[in-house]
Amino acid sequence: MEYLAYGKTGLEISRLCFGAGRIKNTCDTIEAGSKLMLQALDEGVTFWDTAEGYGTQPHLGDAIRQISRDEVVIQTKTGAKDYEGAKASIARSLLELQTDYLDILLLHGISTPEDLVSREGALDAFREAKAAGKIRVIGCSTHIHTGPVMDAVIDHPELEVILATANKEGRMLEGGPLDKHLEYLQRAYDIGKGISIMKVVVAGDIPEADISEWIEWGFNLETAHAINLGMTEYRHITLDVGLARTSARRRLIQRKAA
Ligand SMILES: NC(=O)c1ccc[n+]([C@@H]2O[C@H](COP(=O)([O-])OP(=O)(O)OC[C@H]3O[C@@H](n4cnc5c(N)ncnc54)[C@H](OP(=O)(O)O)[C@@H]3O)[C@@H](O)[C@H]2O)c1
Repeated sequence: MEYLAYGKTGLEISRLCFGAGRIKNTCDTIEAGSKLMLQALDEGVTFWDTAEGYGTQPHLGDAIRQISRDEVVIQTKTGAKDYEGAKASIARSLLELQTDYLDILLLHGISTPEDLVSREGALDAFREAKAAGKIRVIGCSTHIHTGPVMDAVIDHPELEVILATANKEGRMLEGGPLDKHLEYLQRAYDIGKGISIMKVVVAGDIPEADISEWIEWGFNLETAHAINLGMTEYRHITLDVGLARTSARRRLIQRKAA
């Protein structure tokens, strides 16, 4: 597994990020979900992504309880817009994840510049929690949106991390073409934001035979620090970890040749 600095955040992450948004599809219990997370950790996947809205924080929390907290980088999200809502959400996340601090907290699913402005109250709660040591890094996800929303989140000095949709054909992306979206990611990367990409296999809506090719595209994207894949089964973990390793070897060879 390749480990790298997550932009200028000061965090070190595995290039493959476990997107735990879907583990309830295959894991009937919290214990089954935590077992899958720990299997991924055994394969070197130290960057874990969840959200209050997914209902999977308890699964990650049960796994975190069984390891050293500093073995993993935990990213979660809140859709709360106001101060009180975000403050309560942060408290629930800490409880469910069984931790004293969140490595990364994202404003969940910013869709427009106006939407970002409407989260100012939530950001106040983020700032307060960061000052109290309960959050290390603040960021946002933009779900499937691109265009002016990308200008807004890139230009926001407090958002150190961006989780955005990107895949081989720009599927699911709304608000602009893929080539322009990739320029936004390049700009964000160049100024030191931590960049993760999601929907790399279009939420599963591509033929099984093409999955590896689409994931390889993600790992080939140099402006993405992390490739967030919504793994739900052990066979996904083995395939995705193998592709991450192949990509890491290729990147090392390229760096040595440069
Ligand atoms: N707004 C936001 O912040 C936001 C929104 C969406 C997602 N996310 C995060 O991003 C993660 C990824 O998004 P996503 O799950 O919607 O999209 P994805 O990673 O493109 O798709 C994951 C789905 O693809 C299928 N799949 C087949 N082979 C796979 C493989 N080798 N590895 C992984 N998946 C494989 C599985 O579905 P089948 O079992 O049906 O084949 C799996 O559930 C989520 O889990 C979540 O953590 C964030």
